[in-house]
Amino acid sequence: MEKEFLEEPQDIEDIDLLEEVKTNNIVILANHLVKDYEIGEFIVRAVDDVSLRIKESDFVIIKGPSGAGKTTLLNLIGGLDSPNGGVIYSNGVKITNLQEESLATFRLINVGFIFQNYNLISTLTAEENVMFPMKLAGLNLKEQREKAVSLLKQVGLGERREHLPFQLSAGEQQRVAIARALANDPEIILADEPTANLDKKTSLFIRDLFNDMKKDNKTIVIATHDDFLIELANRIISFEDGKIIKDE
Ligand SMILES: Nc1ncnc2c1ncn2[C@@H]1O[C@H](COP(=O)(O)OP(=O)(O)OP(=O)(O)O)[C@@H](O)[C@H]1O
Ligand SMILES: [Mg+2]
Repeated sequence: MEKEFLEEPQDIEDIDLLEEVKTNNIVILANHLVKDYEIGEFIVRAVDDVSLRIKESDFVIIKGPSGAGKTTLLNLIGGLDSPNGGVIYSNGVKITNLQEESLATFRLINVGFIFQNYNLISTLTAEENVMFPMKLAGLNLKEQREKAVSLLKQVGLGERREHLPFQLSAGEQQRVAIARALANDPEIILADEPTANLDKKTSLFIRDLFNDMKKDNKTIVIATHDDFLIELANRIISFEDGKIIKDE
């Protein structure tokens, strides 16, 4: 699938970066990323010249104070937002070059997003929420339903398929959101404080689901302060004022 998106390198820098991506199994490459937000006459530089390489099957935690730019960085590397400067290669594709429609298709197939507030569609049942990305990807109804049932079982919600989001607890909603993120079997999983609103027991359950994704060799990046999740990481990036201040 991703081959379709590979565009001809345009200059020496592109050729070098693409070569680096291929030879080092880099799933996410960010080079000199900059993101500014303009509010009236003020400009906030949320991401300030960040360069980063994340390899296949890496489990990366991004931590840092509120306002550091963690969410902005995740949104950029997942193609939910576009930078003011710099380039991003994600799963071999230079996503900073893509038009919105191709970018949406890229995200659908390659990236699973998990948000702090679950972001389920309130009028759809748990099962329909999980089916939705597969519908967009063109799977037929039977395939969508079978995969959704199996994913909901996997997250321990086989008995809650017909529930609407408001009929589910916070932890159950997040489990549905995780099943949805896995629907199209993406290579990359990005999660923004996925356990921030959950109690300890539920957080541990979510931790185990991330551990399963790790065993599945997904490339995982999570913005979090949760020690349970941090324990799973093979790399911890400390982010402050839009910059990486520590990478260990
Ligand atoms: N849509 C936006 N418009 C304007 N400014 C924004 C926008 N989103 C973020 N910012 C600003 O960019 C900076 C980084 O925000 P971001 O949400 O990425 O931080 P964060 O590290 O995720 O914080 P938190 O831990 O509170 O979630 C902040 O100063 C914020 O006010
Ligand atoms: Mg945030």
